[in-house]
Amino acid sequence: MNNPTAAGRAQPLLNAVLGAVQQVLGQPTTPLALHEPEFAGREWDYVRECLDTGWVSSAGAYVDRFERDLAHFTGASHAIATSNGTAALHMCLLLAGVGAGDEVLVPTLTFVATANAVAYLGATPHFVECETVSLGVDAARLEEHLQRVAQVSGETCVNRGTGAVIRALVVMHVFGHPCDLDALAALARRWKLVLIEDAAESLGSSYHGRHTGNFGRLAALSFNGNKVVTTGGGGAVLTNDALLARRAKHLTTTARTAHRWSFVHDEIGYNYRLPNINSALGCAQLEQLPKMLLRKRALAARYARAFDGVAGVRFLAEPPGTESNYWLNAVVLDEGVEHLRDDLLQVLNDRGYGSRPVWTLMHRLPMFGSCPRMDTAVAERMEASVINLPSSAKLGA
Ligand SMILES: Cc1ncc(COP(=O)(O)O)c(C=O)c1O
Repeated sequence: MNNPTAAGRAQPLLNAVLGAVQQVLGQPTTPLALHEPEFAGREWDYVRECLDTGWVSSAGAYVDRFERDLAHFTGASHAIATSNGTAALHMCLLLAGVGAGDEVLVPTLTFVATANAVAYLGATPHFVECETVSLGVDAARLEEHLQRVAQVSGETCVNRGTGAVIRALVVMHVFGHPCDLDALAALARRWKLVLIEDAAESLGSSYHGRHTGNFGRLAALSFNGNKVVTTGGGGAVLTNDALLARRAKHLTTTARTAHRWSFVHDEIGYNYRLPNINSALGCAQLEQLPKMLLRKRALAARYARAFDGVAGVRFLAEPPGTESNYWLNAVVLDEGVEHLRDDLLQVLNDRGYGSRPVWTLMHRLPMFGSCPRMDTAVAERMEASVINLPSSAKLGA
């Protein structure tokens, strides 16, 4: 920092943020990861059983059990386990009827998989703005945008500029905080859009007492190694529609027709099934989930207290009416001090607190640069000012 005046202004904020993080986490002797998995239950037993019996691959009792346990935990009627969350999103979009030439409304503030899955189907992401409470899609601003650029024609929503059908709206629960689902579901109904939830980050989060993933026609979960529950790699489709659930199971298992020995496939399917060994890990992890959620919420409460009164930053708390899993804790820098983000990241990481900025916005990525989008000034501000802090469940013990 060359400008001494700026440096002078910066130091108190850097000290205050570092002090708050130190207050919560102490001084680590080895660097703390942003989010680490934890295997404190029966993970070894269940995985060993797979190895001992040879049931490690695409068939086995743990797959069915994991799907049942997931449906039970989330309250969804059906869960279909997949090889990862991106595959689950791909299936959600395909089952929603998204096809080549369609547009799909997607937040620009999301992980790249949300937009990639749209592109896999030959459709185009149409990027939308976020709000500052949940960081999810801003329903009011999206409504204004659609009034400007779209019209409902029969049972479909059409982009008046491009002529393309806007088939679906994908909303994402950023860092586990449920977005404004009532408003977004109402908007989707008004505009004849299929609502899909990218719930990759929000296992354990609920909106007005109902688990996320139950508001859209379909939802995707992720069990990547950095998520609250991990299967190594994995995901799931959630739906309350029995027909869609059957289609999801069929398509994710190479569309093979039921027969004891013959191999007949009645359409182009996908090898997206979650192996038994990963499902076994998932079953053990789900048993631990209630305990992990308590610890994650305890950690978030400590961050909230430590940042209370720190001028220049806001701890990102769960939106009113929701219960967040606090997958990743985050602070947002006030307008006017965003330029300190990288200095803060440097100081925090140097002191062993694994911290990172939010994703680069989708519309800035080279492959999505020419996609349609609305004004995304708020997302751009969030992109410049969010810092994620160490969030592993064990830190809340
Ligand atoms: C919002 C979001 N969507 C989709 C994914 C994709 O999940 P996966 O990595 O399991 O493919 C992730 C996480 O990785 C995510 O955070």
